[in-house]
Amino acid sequence: MRTDTPQPIRLTDYSPFPFAIETTRLVFELHPSATRVRAELAVRRIGAAGEALTLNGERLKLMSVAIDGQALSANQYVADAEHLTVHEVPDQFVLTTEVEIDPLANKALTGLYMSGGRFCTQCEAEGFRTITYFPDRPDVLSRFSVRIEADGGLPHLLSNGNLVDQGALEGSRHFAEWVDPFPKPSYLFALVAGDLDVVTDSFVTMSGREVALKIFVDPGQASRATYALDSLKRAMKWDEEAFGREYDLDLFMIVAVRDFNFGAMENKGLNIFNSSLLLADPQTATDADYERIEAVVAHEYFHNWTGNRITCRDWFQLCLKEGFTVFRDQSFSADMRGAAVQRIKDVRVLRARQFAEDAGPLAHPVRPSSYLKIDNFYTATIYEKGSEIIRMLKTLLGAEAFRKGCDLYFERHDGQATTVEAFIACFAEASGRDLSNFFAWYEQAGTPTVTIASDYDADAQVLTLDLRQSTAPTPGQPAKKALPIPIAIGLLSLDGEALRDTEVVVLDQDAMTVRWEGVSKPPVLSALRNFSAPVNLKTDARPSDRYVLLASDTDLFNRWEAGQTLARDLILARAVGKPDEVGEERYAEGLGRALVDDASEPAFKALLLALPSEPDLALISEPTDPQALHDARDALRTRIAVHLGDLLRRLFGEMQNEGEFSPDAQAAGRRALGAACADMLSADPHADNLARLTGRYEAARNMTDMISGLNALISVGGATRDSAVAHFHQAWRNEPLVMDKWFAAQARDPNPDALDRVIGLTQNADFEPTNPNRLRALVSTFAHFNPARFHDPSGAGYRFLADQILSVDAFNPMTAARLIEPLGAWRRYKPELGALMRQELERIAAHPDLSKNVLELVTKSLA
Ligand code: TRP
Ligand code: ZN
Repeated sequence: MRTDTPQPIRLTDYSPFPFAIETTRLVFELHPSATRVRAELAVRRIGAAGEALTLNGERLKLMSVAIDGQALSANQYVADAEHLTVHEVPDQFVLTTEVEIDPLANKALTGLYMSGGRFCTQCEAEGFRTITYFPDRPDVLSRFSVRIEADGGLPHLLSNGNLVDQGALEGSRHFAEWVDPFPKPSYLFALVAGDLDVVTDSFVTMSGREVALKIFVDPGQASRATYALDSLKRAMKWDEEAFGREYDLDLFMIVAVRDFNFGAMENKGLNIFNSSLLLADPQTATDADYERIEAVVAHEYFHNWTGNRITCRDWFQLCLKEGFTVFRDQSFSADMRGAAVQRIKDVRVLRARQFAEDAGPLAHPVRPSSYLKIDNFYTATIYEKGSEIIRMLKTLLGAEAFRKGCDLYFERHDGQATTVEAFIACFAEASGRDLSNFFAWYEQAGTPTVTIASDYDADAQVLTLDLRQSTAPTPGQPAKKALPIPIAIGLLSLDGEALRDTEVVVLDQDAMTVRWEGVSKPPVLSALRNFSAPVNLKTDARPSDRYVLLASDTDLFNRWEAGQTLARDLILARAVGKPDEVGEERYAEGLGRALVDDASEPAFKALLLALPSEPDLALISEPTDPQALHDARDALRTRIAVHLGDLLRRLFGEMQNEGEFSPDAQAAGRRALGAACADMLSADPHADNLARLTGRYEAARNMTDMISGLNALISVGGATRDSAVAHFHQAWRNEPLVMDKWFAAQARDPNPDALDRVIGLTQNADFEPTNPNRLRALVSTFAHFNPARFHDPSGAGYRFLADQILSVDAFNPMTAARLIEPLGAWRRYKPELGALMRQELERIAAHPDLSKNVLELVTKSLA
């Protein structure tokens, strides 16, 4: 156990930085293992006289410090492991520091590091302090100018803003000069230097300015950047139309890198992307990849306003930029790809990741009040629940008042580092509404449960609804208060006609009653339409009501939800040894009818056909027995595959796309339905089904069909699996992004020998633990998406994960910490398993030199 206890940072301790940094001049002399960074900060005191200047700085070799050109002697400053302090400084001065850093040795992938022979940076949240001494906090905005000097073998030298000069230097070296006219916090700084191919285009903004667009990729990869470029142009246009936001520089650049801790980063004018979220062509990328590329390109672009022009006062306000930006990218995707399908996918992610987080030891409010390492708070709660809060705000205020509030926010806070309170105040002011009770959504952790009991009086034609809410305690928050929950409700008749249009009922107390008159027929309740709030809903609906919704609800989200709820209840009944065989047949019948409904799209049918995932089922059955859930789910899959065999084989055949590949939503929807049929048919692996699946895999001309085929063949196991795995490896071993898929597909293998095989794969020549994509493809995929094998009764799955966490923590703490969550859920599992999970957490905690990142999460997971 480490002996020094790191001190948490608290929201209530916020105080402004006592100096303004008016300009920041950086000069980089790039060398792989010894890069020199000179920083000249124009400093002006804005706080009390006499206060010392303290800058952040970590892992820096300090070469010199000067004030107004006068070198300081060693007794005029203090440099410790985390800070540089100069006690006596004038009210206005230029501070010059010179440091040396080692990008080649940096495997943490924050700050300045090398990936594939190129220099690149990742500064959010606190990476800039490993590049130079600076007040590395989001509320210190400065105008940056940057000079980069490097070897000629690195032809592209990039930073934020506009390129103002470039040229040759002595030897084989050259330089570039960049000026960013917009003041920005240090976390938005970026630098890239390397040999790259560039794809160029332009965009004319709504005021008629022409913006040059450039995407930089690995040499030879340019043709794979066209979809990202197209997505970017659509996102730029959409933001003008939907939010009135125009781009502000003359140049917008994106660089793709292979080694990256997260998805992508919104650095001003120079976004940096994980190559998995940028590069795509039909042969190597799936429809899911295309979809994510479109969403993430938009997300990072949208940050230019929600994050960059208006940034966060401190990191507790992270949801101010992330929740809002996720809401914006989800709205964009809904417009690009269809609102209902997009909403269902977004809710699936919300439940699988955020509801799970909220139900465990790492539950925290959307605006937390303390942290050890801010890196640990880039969570589903901040992002996904943060977006849900904005969505509720829009539902409560209406589209028009919501837009007015956004306009006011952009106008009032442009150029500032601000808070969630200031943001909400704009909506209260623009709408004239009192939003004081709404703020609790930001401060209270946990997923509320809403129960609705209905009572219909046929004689009086009155429907009475009894609505209640409650939220279970979460760490540090034993007592919960009532939140304002918008619940969209409509009514259908028993034969599926609309009886009453959607109305939004706001449940803002523990309990309330709604009385609806003039309900002429016995109603079926369609509640929480379009998932109008991030809650768990319990109603007294009977299965027959759910079949009405599945067949007829005009709200497609609830149509899907009805099917999911029916399936969920059947699986849970089987998992506790009480299978409802008649109910299962009935479900297969109902599903079959929905699948032949000509009025609904293939993409929607694909979602209907997918049973609730094992992680979702785990969340609602306590104590969780992953093997029992897996077997029960499989049994229902097999029953559907047998019962609907002819229909599934027919649809599977019909969904075959002839002709040229198109990544658009319609074509992708057809492939998704084909894949959903393949998944079902693999649960009934007789010769005919197997021949079809193998045939499809062999004939696949795009990665979507190929991966769905590979998954199906792997799940069949035995020689079928082995030859598919070998064939795929042979075909794709030189394509890193495809090899990630190869590892991930095997990590999802449901067969009994999968754990040993996964452990064996860490010895594979292609397994690179220093590359986060590869590591996550194998280790995270296994721990999150293969519960039956991860929760092996021997505890070997847990031991494997803990070993990986410890070895990765030695060089990349941020990525190691993100692997802890699957063990953190130990309390919800059956006691034999829970004890083994806890044992591995304890083993991690006892390790002598854990990073702060891992220490924080492991401690919370055990508490
Ligand atoms: N701001 C980025 C986004 O959401 C997230 C991000 C990228 C990040 N890289 C990071 C956060 C590294 C922390 C550390 O778009
Ligand atoms: Zn973001």
